[in-house]
Amino acid sequence: MSNWLKSAIFYEIYPNSYMDANGDGYGDLKGITSKLDYIKELGADAIWLNPHYDSPFMDGGYDVRDYFKVSPRFGTEADFDEFISAAHARGIRVILDLVPGHTSEQNPDFLRSAENVRNEMYDRFIWTNHEWQFPEGFKAISGRHDRTGNYIVNYYSTQPSLNYGFNEITEPDWQMSYKSDAAKATREWLKSVIRFWLDRGADGFRVDMADSLVKNDGPQSEKPATSEVWRDIRKMLDNEYPDAVLVSEWSNPQAIRAGFHADFMLDHHGNPYNRLVRYEEAGEHSYFDIQGRGDAAEFAKRFSEWHDAVKDNGNIAIISCNHDTPRLAPHYTVDQLKAIYATLFTLPGVPFMYYGDEIGMKYQSDLPSVECGFARTGSRTPMQWNTTKNAGFSAAERTFLPTETDKAVNVEAQLKDKKSLLNFVKSLFEFRKANKELCSTDLEFVHAVGAEPLVYKRGGLTVVVNPLAVKQTVTVDIPVKATVVFSTGKEAKPNKNGTVAVPPVSVTVFK
Ligand code: GLC
Repeated sequence: MSNWLKSAIFYEIYPNSYMDANGDGYGDLKGITSKLDYIKELGADAIWLNPHYDSPFMDGGYDVRDYFKVSPRFGTEADFDEFISAAHARGIRVILDLVPGHTSEQNPDFLRSAENVRNEMYDRFIWTNHEWQFPEGFKAISGRHDRTGNYIVNYYSTQPSLNYGFNEITEPDWQMSYKSDAAKATREWLKSVIRFWLDRGADGFRVDMADSLVKNDGPQSEKPATSEVWRDIRKMLDNEYPDAVLVSEWSNPQAIRAGFHADFMLDHHGNPYNRLVRYEEAGEHSYFDIQGRGDAAEFAKRFSEWHDAVKDNGNIAIISCNHDTPRLAPHYTVDQLKAIYATLFTLPGVPFMYYGDEIGMKYQSDLPSVECGFARTGSRTPMQWNTTKNAGFSAAERTFLPTETDKAVNVEAQLKDKKSLLNFVKSLFEFRKANKELCSTDLEFVHAVGAEPLVYKRGGLTVVVNPLAVKQTVTVDIPVKATVVFSTGKEAKPNKNGTVAVPPVSVTVFK
């Protein structure tokens, strides 16, 4: 079983937006390769690369046309191999994005399946039996192909669902069992995709919509048949590629029971991540709300439940944000971002820093949708390297998305500034690497009450967080002589009377 994951620090790269080496306005693999030293210096030792496959880009590449081919937009097959070996040469692992649930509507297997004849792909996708069938609870697309029937899609209308079968069969005339030969054939095809990229040097996969495979499979927290499929795939990995990892987009501890090595805690309403930084409902706010309307108790309770459910069987993947989630800036200031990252990445879990979050790139709320990014488009703008044309991202006249105009937010300037967010993130990652307890499952919440300072223990380390713009005092027993081993903002100070004075917007770690 792969044991590198526990102590890994990931960096998520959206290839369209990272670095454009050939000047066509889109990021590419050569561009990423040219920035590997930067990533290494940041302290990341693993990359999650968003889809790099051949695609018509009707959903940012999550509509795969050819699962065995690099998108020409991102470069050649040789560019891919060079990227992997250059990353490995620096001790950086690379996980790819696996899109198992749906293909592009231009995928040749789908087009074959859409022919009105019984061929070898007839059951590879989910089709109803006639063109007037619009089953409840599914998105069925009609009138685009001559095959009699409608096809079910997983996400957008351009993304037909692959057929992994159904658990509960409610309409037997068109639904097949997940144990059927056709469903099993889809699973074997998926294994062939996995083997293909692992053989080419990938170290694992982030798995898109991992819980979406088998239909009519109960709530997200159960999905027994989908879990069975993944356990079967995990068995294959353990036998053939014991070092490879699977990180699911499932966002429920059930993913770990289904065999994933780690699972993302996403920004879903009410999730611990959401409770920490983005929650808003009926007068309630997230813990980092500067006005003190947040609740540490709710956060701690939910985080503990999740953590207890995952514990020694897997890992929680903790994000700064991702390509589907609004960036935390400009909602939060740089000082707040430092405190938020220090909190997120001293909790038990594997850190995933989204490109650009290390310099505080801002969510662009006013951008028109590009390639069906819709509201997510604003989190996908080009990386800001310096203050030259297109922020150093590209020499093109027109880029995939415009670069942000705030000239202070760029790598070059922040590398020179000791107090920058970028240098802070580096020190945070160094701190994490140097302290094994941060990669353990040890966690004890010591104080979690309203907007008061949050205090938790990770083995011999005690973390004290103040999200507010005012100084606070908290009653916790920290020895006056305890050493401060990491901090952002002014350091908290233990008093003799068993209280701790905690400066505004600060995180202090005591040993
Ligand atoms: C996942 C991806 C998202 C994509 C969707 C459909 O949620 O993260 O970007 O649009 O799946 O594949």
